[in-house]
Amino acid sequence: MIKQLLQRTKKKLFLPCSSEVYAGLHGPNKSADAVYLPAYDRLFMLLKHFYLNGLRGDIFEFGVFQGYTAHLLASCMNRFQLKSAALHLFDSFEGLPSASEVDQLGYESQNKIWQSGMLKTTAGVEKLIESTLGHMLGKQRLHVVKGFFDETLPPYLGALESPRALLVHLDCDLYSSSKCVLQALFKYGLIQDGTVLICDDWMTSMGNPNLGQRRAVKEILEEFPSWEFEPYFNYGMGSQVFVIHDTSLTSGRRFEVS
Ligand SMILES: C[S@@+](CC[C@H](N)C(=O)[O-])C[C@H]1O[C@@H](n2cnc3c(N)ncnc32)[C@H](O)[C@@H]1O
Repeated sequence: MIKQLLQRTKKKLFLPCSSEVYAGLHGPNKSADAVYLPAYDRLFMLLKHFYLNGLRGDIFEFGVFQGYTAHLLASCMNRFQLKSAALHLFDSFEGLPSASEVDQLGYESQNKIWQSGMLKTTAGVEKLIESTLGHMLGKQRLHVVKGFFDETLPPYLGALESPRALLVHLDCDLYSSSKCVLQALFKYGLIQDGTVLICDDWMTSMGNPNLGQRRAVKEILEEFPSWEFEPYFNYGMGSQVFVIHDTSLTSGRRFEVS
């Protein structure tokens, strides 16, 4: 019975999305799967390698929408047995915030491809994600945080007991949202030597480093010059995976592994 219910919920949640923007970005699920499944396998092989060497932390996604990549993250966490990691999912579920001054300069705003409120999900999607992924991982390992990042991140990340990120999926389109997330991750100490970062929107605004997510990363690295983002691989429509290094370290950290 539970299995049937889950299958039904899963079908509902992972039906091809009605949003044209989503379809434009990812295409129907089958073509998304063709790109994302091998990319996530490769990513989790690396994470597992770091995990076996003692690195610990949670998995954070900023930009959930209807839960396509959140579902992939949860299933890889199970498949690769990252047992101590929790999954934290952040989204307004109200769509994109209004464009900041910098975002207004980007190609997507200039050409009205992105607008405030775009990617708003239908009511209750976050509850559906919470119940299906909570069932997959166990309720205590799944956290869905609804709201705009500038409001939710300081209290939430500030209150984490062991604030460490194993993997960060930065999939929130805008310069301002990406910068807000990266700043909070550094401020609250989540970034560690070996954190893997996916910049899903690396090639937005034609990949111009003065615009979009690339500008956010460039500014963060200027702000935190002892940290390095090493390009690892890319996939899909310009998503870029980095491994983050703390270049101030001269020896490996000692882990107390549970
Ligand atoms: C491209 S979608 C994420 C796609 C998702 N990972 C998937 O698998 O389909 C971008 C999401 O980022 C969210 N977002 C962007 N900026 C935000 C902000 N400042 N605060 C909260 N959510 C934001 C939007 O609501 C939207 O759902």
